[in-house]
Formats: sequence, C-alpha cells, structure tokens
Amino acid sequence: MTHLEGQHILSVNQFNPDTINTIFSVAERMQPYALRHRRTNVLEGAILGNLFFEPSTRTRVSFASAFNLLGGSVSETVGIGSSSLAKGESLYDTAMMMATYSDVIAMRHPQPFSVEEFSKGSTVPVINGGDGANEHPTQALLDLFTIKKELESKARNIDGMHIALLGDLKHGRTVHSLSKLLAQYKNIHFSLLAPNELQMPPYVVDEITNAGHQVSIHDSIEGHAAGADILYQTRIQEERFPSQDEANKYRGKFKLNKAIYQGHCKDSAVIMHPLPRDSRSDANELDNDLNDHPNLAIFRQADNGLLIRMALFALTLGVDSQLEQYELPVNWYSRKG
Ligand code: NCD
Repeated sequence: MTHLEGQHILSVNQFNPDTINTIFSVAERMQPYALRHRRTNVLEGAILGNLFFEPSTRTRVSFASAFNLLGGSVSETVGIGSSSLAKGESLYDTAMMMATYSDVIAMRHPQPFSVEEFSKGSTVPVINGGDGANEHPTQALLDLFTIKKELESKARNIDGMHIALLGDLKHGRTVHSLSKLLAQYKNIHFSLLAPNELQMPPYVVDEITNAGHQVSIHDSIEGHAAGADILYQTRIQEERFPSQDEANKYRGKFKLNKAIYQGHCKDSAVIMHPLPRDSRSDANELDNDLNDHPNLAIFRQADNGLLIRMALFALTLGVDSQLEQYELPVNWYSRKG
C-alpha cells in the first residue's frame, strides 16, 4: 500500500521527492498501455466522476481517457449551469452525492480552494484539476516529468537547471504549482519574465527564494532568457481579469516565436506550454513558426499528462501492483508509437 491510497490530491505541497519518484515510476509503467501495445483492465467496474466547472479539453479528456485506459468507466458533468450548483447547492452537498456515484472524483472549479472544500464532503479520493488561479497539481507533475525526461535526453538534471517562466505568472495556476514543486530540488535559477503587473505572486517568489534558489525578475524575454534550459510559456489568462478591456492590454504583448528563440535563447532550450495556446493572430504567445522545432516539447508534455493521471488513479485506488495481473492483448489495429 502506498501513502497515496485513498488520499485526495489537492496541492503540490503534499508531495515530497519520494512520492514524486513513486508517481513517476508508476507513470513509466503506463507507457505500453497508453501506446496500446497491451491493455489492462485493472479498474474494470470502477467509476470516475469527472466534474469540470470551467472550460477544459486536455485535462478533462485526459483524466477520462486515463481512467478508460485502466478499464474504468467515466461519468461526466460539465459546466456549473448544468449542475445543481446553479440551484445554490453547496460544494459539500454536491460532494456527498458525487461520492455515492463514484470511486474517485476529478474536479475543476473557478474558485481558489473550492476543490479542497468539496473534498471535505467526499468519502472517495478527489483530484484537483485546477481551482481558479490557485493550483493545478497534476499539471505540475506532468510538467516536472516532462522537464526531467527532456533534460535527461540532453544529459542534464533538474538540480542546477535554469528555467524561464514566461507570460501571465500572476493568474497562471500551472506556474504557481510548478514553482512550488521545483522548490524541492536544488540550486535552480528561476527567471520570471512577465509584464510587471502580471508577475509571480510574492508568496510563490518567497517560497522559492527561501528554499535557496536564485530568482531573476524582468519584464521582457529578450536579453533575459539566454541561459535558460527550459522556456515555459503561458497564455494570458483572460478569464481571470476583471474585464475584457483589462485583459486586452496584454494580448499579444509577450510572445515567443522563431526570431526571438533563435536570437535570444540557447540552441538547446526546451520549449514548453501547458496549453491551450491562444492562437488568435492578435494573441499568439507561442507562434506556429516553431511547430517543427525538435525542442518544442508541448505535445510530448500533453502526452505525459495521460501517463501521470493513469499513475495517480492507480495509486489513489491502490492497484499499482496489479496492473500486469489484469493485462490483456490488444486485438485491434493500432498505429500508435
Ligand atoms: C491550463 C489551466 O487550465 O490552468 N491548462 C491546462 O490545464 N493544461 C493553462 C491555461 O488554461 O492557460
């Protein structure tokens, strides 16, 4: 039994290097199932309650797909308007009910700490798929897993690396969770490159500074990303601004494209983004002109999300040692990797 069995996953604060290593080693064992070389029915009969009260494609579908790949079924609610929250039901009452219908719940909600509040009414594990601008712990794990793999392919480590976090660091929950998780490693140089008004919240900066890491803060990419091993671009989180007019001030102001990459970044710098990127022509924070670049890791990063979420389901439901026992062959045509 691992210490994640039966646990909620609400914040990266609950992970330590041992937990992270366990999650990553289970994630590696999920690769043959994700690639459809083999399948496993270890969660046959189990039900995931997938509750998404904010827009999502990747996170929602990858939670569902991860559960299906382990043999389980998914019951989905999308949008506050289509749930009884719109009738004034509390998160606690909703959780009491959803826990009756599910063996595990994944949830996204616009309010910070709402998923934690919800988890108090749930007898089954609740996994935070993003609570407002607060945290996105499963994204941080898949980001860290991606950083580790990308750096290892270049014979480098997380300890001692230089990461540049770019874009809307104020409202971006992915960079909050990732920074806190990286703070557990050693001797990292964080370059926080964002418009001044959209800089990283002071509590996150304090956490990484107090852990002994080097922090540089600037309001442009040009001239400040030259040493970075990882460039982590983010979308301006327009939905978190008080008005669209406020958000529009930053649209298209903080871009990474081929010219900036070639002129201002290391040749080996890995390009990441949690996605979705805003590809409207006046926004376009990560340009399509980098699509064919071998260091563009954004789709490898998203693929890793499936492995991490499969691992979290296996660990929270306590079946990580039974994956192979429930294996079956794949008897249909499949051309994945
Ligand atoms: C991110 C999110 O929802 O926080 N997306 C994701 O889950 N991959 C980032 C974003 O929406 O910009």
